[in-house]
Amino acid sequence: MTSPADTAPFLEARGITMDFPGVRALDRVSFSARCGEIHALVGENGAGKSTLIKILGGIHPGDSYAGELLLEGRPAHFWSPRDAASAGIAVIHQELSLIPHLSVAENIFLGAEPRRCGFIADFDRMRHDAETILSGLNSELEIAAPVSSFGVAAQQMVEIARAIRRENRLLILDEPTASLSEPESLNLLSLLRRMRDRGQAVVYISHRLDEVLAVADRITVLRDGRVVGTGDRGDWTRERLICAMVGRDMSGKSVARGKGKGEPILHVRDVWATDPASGKRVVDRVSFDLHRGEILGVAGLMGSGRTELALTIFGAWPAAWGGAVWLETAGRPVRSVSDAIEQGVALVPEDRRRHGLVLDFPVFDNLMLVHLPRYAKAGVTDEATAARDARAIAGRLDIRAPSLQTPVLRLSGGNQQKIVVGKWLMRPPAVLLLDEPARGIDVGAKFEMFRIIRELADEGTAVLMISSELPEVLALSDRVLVMRRGRVGAVLEGCDATPERIMEAAV
Ligand SMILES: Nc1ncnc2c1ncn2[C@@H]1O[C@H](COP(=O)(O)OP(=O)(O)OP(=O)(O)O)[C@@H](O)[C@H]1O
Ligand SMILES: [Mg+2]
Repeated sequence: MTSPADTAPFLEARGITMDFPGVRALDRVSFSARCGEIHALVGENGAGKSTLIKILGGIHPGDSYAGELLLEGRPAHFWSPRDAASAGIAVIHQELSLIPHLSVAENIFLGAEPRRCGFIADFDRMRHDAETILSGLNSELEIAAPVSSFGVAAQQMVEIARAIRRENRLLILDEPTASLSEPESLNLLSLLRRMRDRGQAVVYISHRLDEVLAVADRITVLRDGRVVGTGDRGDWTRERLICAMVGRDMSGKSVARGKGKGEPILHVRDVWATDPASGKRVVDRVSFDLHRGEILGVAGLMGSGRTELALTIFGAWPAAWGGAVWLETAGRPVRSVSDAIEQGVALVPEDRRRHGLVLDFPVFDNLMLVHLPRYAKAGVTDEATAARDARAIAGRLDIRAPSLQTPVLRLSGGNQQKIVVGKWLMRPPAVLLLDEPARGIDVGAKFEMFRIIRELADEGTAVLMISSELPEVLALSDRVLVMRRGRVGAVLEGCDATPERIMEAAV
């Protein structure tokens, strides 16, 4: 039997260099995808991972970079994603690309609807095939519902289903598990292993290094656009990976424990919310208090109602909801987003592209939008102080951008996410609701972000943090609330919260 290393790679990039205004995104990068192999690509935010993937997937056309691509040993040029697709390459990009008002099934088969007699769209077959693919992913999504009625995690599943609807020679996944919870991610990883065992090539990008170490056959590390290491899985440990990614040793770093919680500040009583499409309760009689100075982690499976709960508390749930939410300090309940903001509640939403950023505005404006009034003296904005504060937060979170005037659109995915969270870290609110704040953020920046969140809590902010990554929930939370089918499955004190107990309460 020939091992994958003996045969020519299915796809190879040689000496790729690509520039954007003010940045060299890739510098003489060589990378290959072999059949029967899972090749992981890791690196800090802005290292160049997505840029390389966009070249392999035909988004950046053949004349936008220097260097060459070889398909099964022969020079190739991709001028569009269609070219890459017809070579047997499927890509799941970091930013979702679904059409919101179309159904799950329609999105899965977009542009490739099964047809009868060659031209009539065969909807029965489309529904049947969509169900087969989704059940292979252990997903129970309602295939007739529009994708806009689902959260980011479910949309990610649709995106995955679309990429695997037909057998491809190479599947490239750019952070597919960033919004998936543990069981869903494990599911995806075992699917990738099956594809590899069938002889397909897989390229896998993730900031979750445990996943990378569990699934990869080979790992390549990018730093500042250069390959700083590549080798078989056996050559790597978690520490070595981190060291190669950030260029320094991060071991032994941890976020300090909090100073302990103060008096209750936010009260949530018997809160419920219904799904706009089905009318079913997605949040069901949830009650808890959030204390000054504490970080309450919220864990649970996809669809357990975590995001819906945060939106409801913030007064932003778009369908029917009830129950009571009020702050200790305010004389009246929170009934709307403007009540929430006025009373000092802030929400960092899950879907940054839809709710968290104005993409074509500069970094500075995105950081400052909600704060500018506070920098005004007698109607004039104190630009110098505002700029200094913005630079400080950008520095602490290591936001990589050519300047604060660069439109957010031009930043890497993780750097965009740092801005969404960063704008709330500049001026602490009384209550901060964070929905997957560290999604897509690299290890170094994540550590710094958690340290800032802990500092905010120590200064008195009450923090509620939804996260699908158990290690991060456990590292940061004083208490953990586990959601299960819309209800509170358990509330665990920090010392009692173990991954096992959380999973037990979640399923
Ligand atoms: N369309 C663009 N215009 C200008 N600069 C860009 C563009 N796309 C990417 N860049 C820059 O290229 C560099 C590499 O970005 P890339 O998106 O490849 O990083 P990444 O490794 O995928 O990071 P992340 O982990 O945050 O997703 C960054 O400095 C980024 O700002
Ligand atoms: Mg990226």
